[in-house]
Amino acid sequence: MKEQLQSIFESAKVEIAEAKSIHDLQQMKSKYVGKKSVLNGLLKQIGTLSKEERPKFGQIVNIAKADLSKLIEARENEIKELDYLAKIESEKIDLTMPSRKRTSGSLHPITKVIQEIEDIFISMGFEVAMGPDIEDEFHNFDALNTPKDHPARDLSDTFYIDNDVLLRTQSSTVQVRVMENHKPPIKIISLGNCYRNENDASHSPMFHQVEALVVDEGINFADLHNMLNTFVKKMFGEKIESRIRPHFFPFTEPSAEIDIVCVKCYGKGCNLCKGSGWLEMGGAGLVDPNVFDKLGIDSEKYTGYAFGLGIDRITMLKYKIPDMRLLFENDIRFLKQF
Ligand code: PHE
Repeated sequence: MKEQLQSIFESAKVEIAEAKSIHDLQQMKSKYVGKKSVLNGLLKQIGTLSKEERPKFGQIVNIAKADLSKLIEARENEIKELDYLAKIESEKIDLTMPSRKRTSGSLHPITKVIQEIEDIFISMGFEVAMGPDIEDEFHNFDALNTPKDHPARDLSDTFYIDNDVLLRTQSSTVQVRVMENHKPPIKIISLGNCYRNENDASHSPMFHQVEALVVDEGINFADLHNMLNTFVKKMFGEKIESRIRPHFFPFTEPSAEIDIVCVKCYGKGCNLCKGSGWLEMGGAGLVDPNVFDKLGIDSEKYTGYAFGLGIDRITMLKYKIPDMRLLFENDIRFLKQF
């Protein structure tokens, strides 16, 4: 039995020395020094020894248990120390490392232009009205006097979500919503996203429009052109005039297209204005009486004007951006410049 004890003791020493974790050591504690330890198991066989040998053997077992206990404790401290050093190593900070660069964000050029447009119109007594991007055919087409067979209603031009539901193709939808709910006098602008199925250097499938609507007694074309000119000068500078050319829109009569003097050559003719000296900016007109009638506004008493301008185009001209797609690619190197 003594040899047995000796060999258990030797292998326990090796096992303890090789223990890798506190958990391993806990298992060894119960294996070698706990109540159900192998050493206590040996004590159960003490009856096979002679009377004189029994107390001696009991003593040796207890000494062995105490020794192993100490070894376990020592190894436990060693492991704790190693874990601690590893933790310190893993948390070490390199104070010589250069710090991470902090970059401050900036507003998107379109957001900047939208804010500027709002400021200009608000300073002239306009209110800002909003409408949903997802519209129905009534607000986008029917109420705007656009007949069922109008090419703009084609599936290949307009993004339909459902039969009657679509992504608005123009911010004129907001004039309908405002006139549905308010009686004249009305003096609003609406700004927001519009969607059409087109995509090239000067057209994006998602773009932005600002639309002005003024309805009151005695509003005429001169008021429209005057307001346009005032806006254009505030936006682009005193040198920039606007002009209107006859055109057609289903919801205005008469209708006009808006041009401004080329912001690059001031009318002399250059590559930007393709030699004409003028740049196309949007559409305008006096609200068609049919639109008033559909929305319950007395077309005998009231007249009104509306004009719509492309915000993306204004942004491109203001910041000399050659391709509209740059505005929506979200390339940080491009956006950082503003
Ligand atoms: N909504 C028209 C367009 O997107 C522009 C417009 C606005 C025309 C207001 C007349 C009056 O083409």
